[in-house]
Amino acid sequence: MTALVAARDLARIYTSKSGPFAARQELRAVGGVSFEIEAGKTLAIVGESGCGKSTLARLVTMIEQPDAGTLTIDGADALSPEARARLRPVVQLVFQNPYGSLNPRRKVGKILEEPLLINTRLGGAERKRNVLDTMTRVGLSEEQAGRYPHMFSGGQRQRIAIARALILRPKLVVADEPVSALDVSVQAQVLNLLMDLQQQFGLAYMFISHDLAVVRFIAHDVLVMYLGLAVEHGPKERIFEQPLHPYTQALLASTPGLGGKRPVKRMVKGEVPSPLNVPKGCVFEPRCPHATALCRAERPPLRPVSGRQVACHYAEQFRMNAAADNREASRARSADVEPHSAHSRASGNPEQW
Ligand SMILES: Nc1ncnc2c1ncn2[C@@H]1O[C@H](COP(=O)(O)OP(=O)(O)O)[C@@H](O)[C@H]1O
Ligand code: SF4
Ligand SMILES: [Mg+2]
Repeated sequence: MTALVAARDLARIYTSKSGPFAARQELRAVGGVSFEIEAGKTLAIVGESGCGKSTLARLVTMIEQPDAGTLTIDGADALSPEARARLRPVVQLVFQNPYGSLNPRRKVGKILEEPLLINTRLGGAERKRNVLDTMTRVGLSEEQAGRYPHMFSGGQRQRIAIARALILRPKLVVADEPVSALDVSVQAQVLNLLMDLQQQFGLAYMFISHDLAVVRFIAHDVLVMYLGLAVEHGPKERIFEQPLHPYTQALLASTPGLGGKRPVKRMVKGEVPSPLNVPKGCVFEPRCPHATALCRAERPPLRPVSGRQVACHYAEQFRMNAAADNREASRARSADVEPHSAHSRASGNPEQW
């Protein structure tokens, strides 16, 4: 089956100057990222602030052009101007803060009708029917069409933003941190709504989040980004059951509420380096507890290991250690003794194990 979205080596580089006489500097926000999204499926993009998630969202929604790479959406080259015009209604964006994107002086019914006015030839009665139908599907009532955005709660406003994204019946919705600003109880409602809508319309999502607990709930596939690059990418089950990249491991270990069984072994220490000054070798090397001379000298390519792609020189060793850990833990459970941590065990190479 052909994927709905196929991105190959997408890159976006911003140039900036810190002063009138300063040299131009290149900031690599997205450094060559590849992925596919099947119709009806969710690819989650995760990583800390500044790793390039929103830039990737702007590339996929065709708000910005990449500096390199290819992007195919719904069988068309999304970088060609003709195809972009056809694809605009096919790809829709939902932001973290819907209030910023909802015109406060327009009633919700009018806000939702606008995309139909611009993009379709539907008559007034049909547009109205569409608006009310979409409002009902996102859990709003028809009477609410006559109200202004400020009269709604945060969760309801996000429902309005979702309704506006859906009104043209897109095939792909790019949702950039859509629940990050909501209370936890409201988050669950909006996530359930997104999953229901995916079923109803066969929607594909590119779902951006820094929260792995949210991602585990909604994703089919996961792409972990660090400094503009994918460091681990594959099916959700593989990545959550046995993360192989030290950055994914650290992100998981530092996410509260993921099952509660996994002790927080270590957090990611230090700051993400500036994208103006990307390490020459592995991008995670300055923060990685397992870094070696090889990591400092050579950037590890993204390569297949154990049913997903990983950019780490030592991914196989992590896999073997995790398997040994599991065996040890199950032996310990049967003997009712505490298992040792994988990271307290010394084992030659790589360093610091
Ligand atoms: N328009 C822009 N001009 C210059 N730098 C930008 C621009 N947009 C984003 N960046 C930089 O690109 C990097 C990635 O940003 P962003 O995609 O917003 O990350 P995220 O969404 O993961 O927080 C950051 O270092 C950010 O400062
Ligand atoms: S390549 Fe080296 S520095 Fe990079 S994640 Fe793997 S062990 Fe850490
Ligand atoms: Mg962002």
